Amino acid sequence: MRIFEAKFAGSSTRVATKPGRKLPEFAFIGRSNVGKSSLINMLCGNSKLAKTSSTPGKTKLINHFLINNSWYLVDLPGYGFAKISKKEREDLRKMINDYILGSEEMVLLFVLVDSRHDIQKIDLEFISGLGENGIPFAIIFTKGDKLGPNALKAQIEKDKAILLEQWEELPAMFTSSSETGAGKQEILDYIEQYI
Ligand code: GTP
Ligand code: MG
Repeated sequence: MRIFEAKFAGSSTRVATKPGRKLPEFAFIGRSNVGKSSLINMLCGNSKLAKTSSTPGKTKLINHFLINNSWYLVDLPGYGFAKISKKEREDLRKMINDYILGSEEMVLLFVLVDSRHDIQKIDLEFISGLGENGIPFAIIFTKGDKLGPNALKAQIEKDKAILLEQWEELPAMFTSSSETGAGKQEILDYIEQYI
């Protein structure tokens, strides 16, 4: 698939106030700073579409981007950001969970994991919750340009082994780089199957 048009369609804090058109949604979630917003920009070929930052905790709202006038990419706030108050973190957690469980249009959730490190406890806990609630998801290993090809491959194999301690089957998995564009076509083609 090719994205020929990507437009910001609105920010919201809950399902009731999201953009009104009922179109399929593909959402991006993961730890704060993992590269959700950068990946959305890379997929859309527009570095200014979603706001990115080297400081974690940039995205604090649910942002919808209307793609090809027919489906939405949804940029969610990151989870696990330490440098905010307990109350703020709990509010964000609730915002994310309510959205994921409540949005009837959500087709698939991409869970982003930093390819440089072992998949973390907070990611595994989040993924377990998806399993318990029957939410379809795929995993994207981000920042693939930061490791050499062999180290990247080894790290992903390690993460797969960690996941297989909890899961009988692995979900669909991708490796991406917002710097080089790696993974773009694979991810877009995967989305296309659902539309
Ligand atoms: P929050 O909105 O804070 O949850 O973060 P986010 O997950 O949206 O991350 P964001 O896209 O803002 O990126 C965080 C930082 O990582 C920025 O400094 C990006 O430039 C950098 N980054 C994101 N993706 C990549 C990548 O594929 N390669 C490299 N080298 N850097 C990346
Ligand atoms: Mg962001």
